[in-house]
Amino acid sequence: MPTNRTFTMIKPDAVQDGHSGAIIKMIEEAGFRIVALKKTQLTPERAGEFYAVHKERPFYNDLCKYMSSGPIVPMILEKDNGVADFRALIGATNPANADEGTIRKLFAKSIEANAIHGSDSDENAEIEGNFFFAHIEQF
Ligand code: RTP
Ligand code: MG
Repeated sequence: MPTNRTFTMIKPDAVQDGHSGAIIKMIEEAGFRIVALKKTQLTPERAGEFYAVHKERPFYNDLCKYMSSGPIVPMILEKDNGVADFRALIGATNPANADEGTIRKLFAKSIEANAIHGSDSDENAEIEGNFFFAHIEQF
């Protein structure tokens, strides 16, 4: 059953560069309600666990290093058609291919340091939200 929830993280490059506020403003103006939010930092091991689906990919080790290099801002968001609408708001993985006006077009530095994560399915949104926030049903 669709939950209308998605999960996101503002990634270390964007947090470090002071773009968290601007990115959260874009998210709220696009109609997403923030269900849960915090600032935290992953260890390389926790980053590896989060991205376990990519462990055979050539970029996996660099990705774990990068994602644990500084604070991140994970959030659970709610909106009708949340997963798909959020992927549209953030734009393509590689900012060179991202549409004008998307978060990655505005703030991403490279295909790796691409400012923000967005879940790719309702199922993964729930798994990823639970990875950072326990007892979310209370919200
Ligand atoms: P995300 O999961 O972070 O929302 O990004 P995505 O779905 O657009 O991309 P995905 O294929 O799931 O890749 C996860 C993250 O790995 C980094 N990456 N680096 N060096 C590379 O070729 C490469 N490709 C992907 C990015 O940080 C990407 O968001
Ligand atoms: Mg992905």
